Amino acid sequence: MEFDRKDLEHALAVVRRRVAPTPAYAWPLLASRCGAEVIVKHENHTPTGSFKARGGLVFVDHLRSAALPAGLVTATRGNHGQSVAIAAVEAGLPALIVVPEGNSPEKNAAMVAFGAELLVKGKDFDEARDAAAQEAAARGYLLVSSFHREIVKGVATYAWELFTACPDLDTVFAPLGMGSGVCGLIAVRDLLGLRTKIVGVVAEQAPAFAASFHNRQVTTGAGASTFADGLACRQPMAEALEVVLGGAADIVTVSEDEIAQAIRTLYEATHNIAEGAGAAAYAALEKTRGRYQGKRVAVVLSGGNIDRAVAAKVLSGLTPPAAPAAPALRAERAPQRWAGARGGWSLALGALSLRR
Ligand SMILES: Cc1ncc(COP(=O)(O)O)c(C=O)c1O
Repeated sequence: MEFDRKDLEHALAVVRRRVAPTPAYAWPLLASRCGAEVIVKHENHTPTGSFKARGGLVFVDHLRSAALPAGLVTATRGNHGQSVAIAAVEAGLPALIVVPEGNSPEKNAAMVAFGAELLVKGKDFDEARDAAAQEAAARGYLLVSSFHREIVKGVATYAWELFTACPDLDTVFAPLGMGSGVCGLIAVRDLLGLRTKIVGVVAEQAPAFAASFHNRQVTTGAGASTFADGLACRQPMAEALEVVLGGAADIVTVSEDEIAQAIRTLYEATHNIAEGAGAAAYAALEKTRGRYQGKRVAVVLSGGNIDRAVAAKVLSGLTPPAAPAAPALRAERAPQRWAGARGGWSLALGALSLRR
């Protein structure tokens, strides 16, 4: 997955039509917690609230070199879908986005607002992906995977921004789902000839990529059930694993509680709201901070698309369950049912229950 400078410059030009460079700020309160200079790359500040916006734009631009398909279809938990939606609509293509039941209502609403048709199908992501494949065949649409060379090239534009602003970083921590972000970082780091180490971060509840890294071969995880839905990888693609094996220094695993705590810390220290996957990189840095004393490191805050009701509970000290089912809307209608005891949070709304 190598790019040359010309590829990157073209991707940057495409991305710039919709995405301004995102800030990379050093936050002193994070520095004092970690004993290191901590730069946050704010990918929560794109037009879709996550780094994914970049990938869809470059993927769809690449399609223009041949006859355009009748439409695009993809399965998603939300951020990849928003990216495909904005890019398809910009190219004048219909976009069908398939999400599993219980998917984030706010991410669903955003995808529709960006112009996509939303189909809720399947009990989990795998079933939604099967439904997306069926729809692709039935409608003659192109099925878009969340890991593709052109998507990585688009996502790599954030790495370019980060490394050109901060070429002297010791380590960058980035969340690892299917791998577009980490592969983009590795490609650009190598292109620029930098020595920065790249550490991927996975959720304990979605261990497939870490297991594959340690086994040095594609390994299916025992589960992929985490409230950090962007990290819910059941099995990495061989192409992504090869790049990560060749270019990542390590993979750190973080628990659901550590991710929730990182959302709170990022809020207190920067007043940015991160979604679970967006906070994972910081969680990993804080967990391993002993190794980074006095160093200059970066964490990628990859997205801020967390439903309001879930964010409120996390900020109040709770850890969400793995797969919240339509929380925000139902909570809105029955606010009194949110009352709960501090020690063991469990709501009458079952699927919405939060634990401490
Ligand atoms: C906010 C966020 N962070 C991280 C990831 C993981 O990215 P990747 O699948 O490119 O590894 C995702 C994936 O959807 C995401 O939405």
